[in-house]
Amino acid sequence: MSVTIDTWVRVGAVGDVPLLEGRSVTVDARRVAVFRLPDGWAAIDAVCPHRGGPLGDGLVAERCVTCPLHGRRFDLVTGEQDGGDDVVAVHDVEERDGELWVHLT
Ligand code: FES
Repeated sequence: MSVTIDTWVRVGAVGDVPLLEGRSVTVDARRVAVFRLPDGWAAIDAVCPHRGGPLGDGLVAERCVTCPLHGRRFDLVTGEQDGGDDVVAVHDVEERDGELWVHLT
């Protein structure tokens, strides 16, 4: 029998993440990149599926992040690579009273 634990983890303060930037955090030993977008927040796995680039350090534009190593772009809502087959996991992220909370999906 498996048990599902619905856990939200506090990962930092809203002020830690400037607009159109990302920050890498650890949630249950998994690296997650949290991004501040003009209309809210996004969270994806922080490790690029190509060769492990740090997606939290990538440039954000048009709801996508560009990996700083080789330039693959990932949609921050769907996790899909723009023009390719790679996918990164998308996680839930919420702002509560000035703090950021992440739930792995
Ligand atoms: S490691 Fe991200 S594009 Fe190569």
